[in-house]
Amino acid sequence: MYRQILNEVFLHLPKILIMELVFVTNNNYKLEEIRHILGEGFNIRSLNDIGFQEDIPEEQPTLEGNASQKAFYIYNTFGVNCFADDTGLEIDALGGKPGVYSARYAGEEKNSEANMDKVLLKMAKIKNRKARFRTVISLIIDGKETQFEGVVEGVILHEKKGRMGFGYDPVFKPDGFNETFAEMNLTTKNKISHRGLAMQKLVQHLKTLRHE
Ligand code: IMP
Repeated sequence: MYRQILNEVFLHLPKILIMELVFVTNNNYKLEEIRHILGEGFNIRSLNDIGFQEDIPEEQPTLEGNASQKAFYIYNTFGVNCFADDTGLEIDALGGKPGVYSARYAGEEKNSEANMDKVLLKMAKIKNRKARFRTVISLIIDGKETQFEGVVEGVILHEKKGRMGFGYDPVFKPDGFNETFAEMNLTTKNKISHRGLAMQKLVQHLKTLRHE
């Protein structure tokens, strides 16, 4: 009898001690980033890991709306606790554009070079270069949503600089630094970036849930 109870406990122990979450992404860079910050005690699975390869609808006009739509889509389909992120580059002189349309600013091909060229062209004669990257993460635990925001302020340069990173990194210089995101090593970028900051807030929250 005791043996049976012990066996049951040991069988379920990993599930009790380890928090399982699906990150609504197949971006390996983002997965590594969050696994690195969270460390032990969490099992983060990707969309690939749960066998999901379709496109998830992103039809909302805001980052908040899209993060929420993506997270609830997976929660409602698979019934798993999960989180999704959405990021945009908001340029003051362009009325906040490309914003929620950052990935497809120059067309459906999601081409980063073309996106940056479009920004540089539109900004060619503009003096106010202020811009920010903003990330919203939507976390769903047992059907309840919590959102986290990360923002990094900076300026848009007149030309591309640096070869690292992705997206708009070569044209964005964060305030307080002399280099663009594309010239910065990943550890520094993760500490100050929009996504890094939003992830840190998510991690804080998950760690408090873990100890409740
Ligand atoms: P997503 O919501 O993370 O897919 O980001 C949408 C778009 O924003 C991407 O396709 C990139 O163009 C841009 N973006 C997001 N994060 C970054 C970043 O860290 N650096 C540069 N561009 C980014």
